Amino acid sequence: MLNLVLFGPPGAGKGTQSEKLIAKYHLVHLSTGDLLRSQIAAGTELGQRAKSLMDQGILVPDEVVIGMIDSKLNENQTAPGFIFDGFPRTVPQAQALDDLLTIHDERITTMVALVVEEEELTRRLLSRGQTSGRPDDQNEELIRRRVKEYNEKTTPVAGYYSNQGKYAAIDGVGDINNIFEAICHKVTEAQQD
Ligand code: AP5
Ligand code: MG
Repeated sequence: MLNLVLFGPPGAGKGTQSEKLIAKYHLVHLSTGDLLRSQIAAGTELGQRAKSLMDQGILVPDEVVIGMIDSKLNENQTAPGFIFDGFPRTVPQAQALDDLLTIHDERITTMVALVVEEEELTRRLLSRGQTSGRPDDQNEELIRRRVKEYNEKTTPVAGYYSNQGKYAAIDGVGDINNIFEAICHKVTEAQQD
């Protein structure tokens, strides 16, 4: 099985690259941001609670996203692998993911981190905000808040995987296809370990 964590700040290209990775490796895509937005669209209680935090660029509580991932792993027991996009975003989430995968006799193959600096992230998300309708893309202050949240709470997750020898950084700036090739190269290396 291939279980890939695609890591990086808001706007780094996790969703963009996930689509290409799914097409190549036939993985199940688990994006906690997409799952939360589905809950909001469906008007569930979980969605209503998450919406106010997401609209402010603040992380939702760990137990909410861990519960969603737990359900999805159980629903997809015959999948050839998973791509985790926007999860784990805190060290407790990373620990919980390891525990859940152990129950399924599985493990993370590698984490690939897309490295993009803040000015480029802001440009990309403001541009997407003109058409996406995502409330959290609507103004620069909010986007910078999301990046700050990432820097404070999420960057330690890179160290968590680095300590396990499962961290690979990729330059996330440039041609989308070239970035994809670089990710695939890291995946191949990790599969040979
Ligand atoms: P989430 O939905 O995960 O959003 P995010 O991580 O903030 O980032 P994006 O999805 O906006 O960016 P992306 O990296 O996928 O980039 P994309 O490919 O779209 O989370 C939203 C919220 O949900 C969080 O703030 C939090 O509240 C909550 N949440 C989610 N998961 C959580 C968790 N685990 N724990 C707690 N809370 C959680 O690309 C961005 C743009 O750039 C696009 O327009 C794209 O076309 C463009 N682009 C992509 N690649 C390139 C390139 N190489 N060059 C130029 N443009 C590019
Ligand atoms: Mg995304």
